[in-house]
Amino acid sequence: MRVVVERTARGAADVAASLIADVLSARDGAALALPTGRTAAAVYAAVVARHRTGRARFDAARIFDLDEFLGIAPDDPRSFASFLRAHLLSQVDVAPQRVHLLDGAAPRWRGEATRCERAIAAAGGLDLAVLGIGANGHIGFNEPAATLAATTHRVRLAASTRRRHADAFGGAARVPRYALTMGVGTIMRARRVLLVATGAEKARIVARALGGAIATRVPASLLQGHPDGIAVLDRDAASRLRAVE
Ligand code: GLP
Repeated sequence: MRVVVERTARGAADVAASLIADVLSARDGAALALPTGRTAAAVYAAVVARHRTGRARFDAARIFDLDEFLGIAPDDPRSFASFLRAHLLSQVDVAPQRVHLLDGAAPRWRGEATRCERAIAAAGGLDLAVLGIGANGHIGFNEPAATLAATTHRVRLAASTRRRHADAFGGAARVPRYALTMGVGTIMRARRVLLVATGAEKARIVARALGGAIATRVPASLLQGHPDGIAVLDRDAASRLRAVE
């Protein structure tokens, strides 16, 4: 995996935004899988700035989200769909019919998972999967486990993940127990993967994911096996990289 270390979180977001813009201009109809979270919000701010100066075009882009809370509808303000709309989709020239967001409230999650996989296949596969990393090493909502599902599936969220999202739901106990997520096979089949991590609180897990053994207990470590993987870090997130043997 190629590792790029920027001095600041803002610098890392800028580099990530320029890599996203490159993929958008390389192929008309480029298909992107996109994450949510604090790190992603900074990347999207940099992407929107590029869009406003004509350096990132979404008119032909196809957009997929990586994950969604189960039971939460796309128009619920706590949904990842709402997050993506607020931080990116409402601010760029993307065509609504090319936006494929998971419906966490779909009556049958299996049908929703199949719909998502079919839409990705119809787009000719993902050109780029943009990923954040959870403090426990999750990508999308692929939580650490003895085995990982390949395609889009329902996952039981780790207790630490539910605590992390407690504020949005008024307490960890109210955070949905399950989510939908693209599987690691779907992510690894993307032609390029871009992992973005910033801040000292990600240093330990980044060191394990990028410098440690490949293990399903650290889902992000699987990205080491990707033929075109790039990690964009700030100095704080990269600070322990050499500390892992
Ligand atoms: C959530 C998302 C992940 C994301 C992670 C990190 O758990 N499901 O896709 O990578 O948050 O978020 P943050 O950047 O806020 O640390």
